[in-house]
Amino acid sequence: MSHNHKLFIETVGCQMNMLDSELVVGALRKHGYELTGDVGDADTILFNTCSVREHAEHKIYSALGRLKYSKQSRPTLVIGVLGCMAQKDQELVFQRAPHVDLVVGTGQLAEVPRLIDEARATRQRSLNVSLDRRDGTRHEVSSSFQSYDPLREPEMRPSPFQAFVRIMFGCDKFCTYCVVPMTRGPEQSRSPADIVHECRVLADQGVKEVTLLGQTVNSYRFPHDGRTWRLSDLLAAIHDIDGLIRLKFVTNYPRDMTDDLLQAVRDLPKCAQYLHVPAQSGCDDVLKRMKRGYTIGEYREMFARIRSTLPNAAVSSDFIVGFCGETEASHQKSLDLIRECRFKNSFIFKYSPRPGTKAFSLLPDDVPEDVKRRRNNEMLALQNRISAEDHAAMIGDVVEVLVEGPSRAAEKRGEIDATTGPVQLTGRTSCDRIVVFEGNPRLTGTLARIRVSDCTPTTLIGTIETREVQHGSSPLLPILL
Ligand code: 5AD
Ligand code: SF4
Repeated sequence: MSHNHKLFIETVGCQMNMLDSELVVGALRKHGYELTGDVGDADTILFNTCSVREHAEHKIYSALGRLKYSKQSRPTLVIGVLGCMAQKDQELVFQRAPHVDLVVGTGQLAEVPRLIDEARATRQRSLNVSLDRRDGTRHEVSSSFQSYDPLREPEMRPSPFQAFVRIMFGCDKFCTYCVVPMTRGPEQSRSPADIVHECRVLADQGVKEVTLLGQTVNSYRFPHDGRTWRLSDLLAAIHDIDGLIRLKFVTNYPRDMTDDLLQAVRDLPKCAQYLHVPAQSGCDDVLKRMKRGYTIGEYREMFARIRSTLPNAAVSSDFIVGFCGETEASHQKSLDLIRECRFKNSFIFKYSPRPGTKAFSLLPDDVPEDVKRRRNNEMLALQNRISAEDHAAMIGDVVEVLVEGPSRAAEKRGEIDATTGPVQLTGRTSCDRIVVFEGNPRLTGTLARIRVSDCTPTTLIGTIETREVQHGSSPLLPILL
């Protein structure tokens, strides 16, 4: 057991990484570590990394570069690289950044406290990664990726009332552009008993909103009680837990958007009316080269099922622009899809070739950077216009918001310390729209009714409704004003 260590951690990437960092930090705090926001003050520096695009890796390698000489003045310093880039680059991390002590993949995170102690004691470098997908049977490779899901101490969670819960990890879809099947390993679902237990513990600790995580969260499958449990079964089981008021899940794979899932979201009132279902492209030729496993006709058919089962749900998407062989006509088809589906928002990325993927080795990266940039800007402008129009149409409406707490701007201005009076708060609607309004910070973690008075493409702006609230639409909680 170590004492009085100071830990600096930088996390990039998706929600899965945020959860992993939270769990690693929780474990280290139990071992006597204290968090610091100052790299210069830390004796342990960790980077939890992302490999999805080259840019994310550059960011980490340059941060590592800046630490090159820091060990000379602080000989007990331990520097660790965790997560996807650790699994993908392995020894290459030591070659590019020789002052790194530890490389720990996504499947070895439980070992981090012990590995840091060892590194400090022995001053030996250590590489801890899972098997490459081709280097063993499916069972051997899967067993080398251990999901890390210890129960969390309540005071170690970043938000007292929101929590991520992993229900599956890894991916078997092998889209040709994507490193995730390599960095997170084979698709593996956690047992319903573990997941429901974890949600119950979180609810007992005061968590109101649980977000279930998986790379393809709706591909969840687990044999349990003599049948195969799917995401819809899990949602129903978690829905019964007292104290929880909102359930979300990300990210969905279009082909697994089955009717039982849509019906569960419709019939279970705690489920957010929000689905993130990445299309990636609106053009069949591109989808085929991406090996996404559906045609755009099938995506449209799935989208129509969402609309008919969940007429009020918001749907968001991801798009990659400038994928190998993407023509101007293909790009126009993606824009058409956005016009037609009117996504709540779209995350848009310029294609970044990733070593280890099929597209990297087989397809030329033939769309010039300036064309990628232009298509990215065009798509963003269209999506923003649609988001702004749909938000403007909500002006005057009253929306139900789960209050997340003071806005970042309010925090920066130091308003939170002035305990009296309203501050700027943020929260989200059931459709996952961000809402900003003035209110008392004690509303954090409760549902509030907000009348929308203004908007931007990303945010609704409003005021708290003070009139008596009818409980007609929401069976959930007493509404705090
Ligand atoms: N280049 C650009 N974007 C990518 N994504 C995944 N791999 C790549 C890549 N090589 C995007 C996809 C995915 C999101 C998380 O990142 O749109 O849905
Ligand atoms: Fe990557 Fe495709 Fe798996 Fe998503 S479904 S993690 S894009 S391989």
